[in-house]
Amino acid sequence: MNSPLTILCIASYFKGTDFIKQCKREGCRVLLLTSQSLENENWPRESIDEIFFIPDNNKEWNMKDVIYGVSYLARTEKIDRIVALDDFDVEKAATLREHLRIGGMGDTTARYFRDKLAMRKKALDEGINIPPFVHLLNHNEIKNFIERVEFPYVIKPRMKAGAIGLIKVNSEKEVWEALEKLGDEQSFYLMEKFVEGDVYHSDTIITNGKIIFGSVSKYGLPPMEVAHQGRVFTSKTVPSGSPEAKEILEFNKNVIKILGLVYGVSHTEFIKAKEDGELYFLETSARVGGANLSELVKAATGINLWEEWAKIEKTQGAAYELPPVENKHAAIITSLAKQEWPDLSAYDDPEIVWKLKKKYHAGLIIASENMERIDELLEKYVKRFYEDFFTTQPLTDTPND
Ligand SMILES: Nc1ncnc2c1ncn2[C@@H]1O[C@H](COP(=O)(O)OP(=O)(O)O)[C@@H](O)[C@H]1O
Ligand SMILES: [Mg+2]
Repeated sequence: MNSPLTILCIASYFKGTDFIKQCKREGCRVLLLTSQSLENENWPRESIDEIFFIPDNNKEWNMKDVIYGVSYLARTEKIDRIVALDDFDVEKAATLREHLRIGGMGDTTARYFRDKLAMRKKALDEGINIPPFVHLLNHNEIKNFIERVEFPYVIKPRMKAGAIGLIKVNSEKEVWEALEKLGDEQSFYLMEKFVEGDVYHSDTIITNGKIIFGSVSKYGLPPMEVAHQGRVFTSKTVPSGSPEAKEILEFNKNVIKILGLVYGVSHTEFIKAKEDGELYFLETSARVGGANLSELVKAATGINLWEEWAKIEKTQGAAYELPPVENKHAAIITSLAKQEWPDLSAYDDPEIVWKLKKKYHAGLIIASENMERIDELLEKYVKRFYEDFFTTQPLTDTPND
């Protein structure tokens, strides 16, 4: 008998339990490398053969520790696959694959899916529509950008997530002040035109370099507004097959092709500009979207992105068959809550398919064949969430999902 395929999952955050369980169902030997501080999280231990902890500083790992640790592990384990379960782990996994010479996404491609500057430069070279941007590196080029591009701008870290570290700037004075503040961190940031409009996300499955499944949704408010001004977060599916969904998926296909993701899953974001109605590429990733968006996709389509991703990783996309896709409308509502364990029992419409179980958070997902019903419930629930649970707190440096 062949020995089972050994898959090493990397998760500096608590994520991907459905992925881990599916790997086990697929008959894999499952190893998990996670942060020491997450030792007591509810990992699906029955599906994990060995679990290893890396000392962390608020989930940050020293890569040298990781390389030593995994290489030591590889003395006795034949590691066949390395998979990053969180966005922050994508480059760690790529570095380890390169070090151990294991197949899958290497450093170059990982960079395009993690580094907002790398993905922009490549997109620009290939003629993808993106807001004008500049690396916060050469001050002459920054001056030229200011002369060329109208305010406002947004300054953003190249490698973070969850709208952390974003600064909106409205004048040249504010740009130089922000640069001054960033000091030596400048080169880890980029600056781009702030494009006002609706923000969409597209959650996809990819095999052989092509999107074989895609679910498009629109955020109720741009995530930056939700994170920075404190709002109830919502997202609602765009009807599949509608011109809007088709336009976004077409754009998305191009992004994936150009940035070179061969197999796996991706969460990609776009802005539809208020001014000219044009679609702009915002960002992409080689992972399942955060903020419980995988639950939204599941509610609308029946597809569990984590589970499908596990199947794809096993065969590297070969011989993969997508399960039948349902075609419902769905929406998600989440908010920080005043209460430690908010009581959602009064939310009892039959369309509710999921409730969030997380301290100081309230959240639910609704799904229906009937879009008007989703619109009606969404509007009603958002109002109720503000009354029943909503609270706000300053944005910390740690992603919230
Ligand atoms: N160029 C831009 N124009 C308008 N809004 C932007 C722009 N860049 C970012 N934002 C806002 O900030 C949010 C977070 O930015 P994004 O680039 O997606 O980084 P993150 O990885 O933090 O999600 C977006 O969802 C959007 O609301
Ligand atoms: Mg984003």
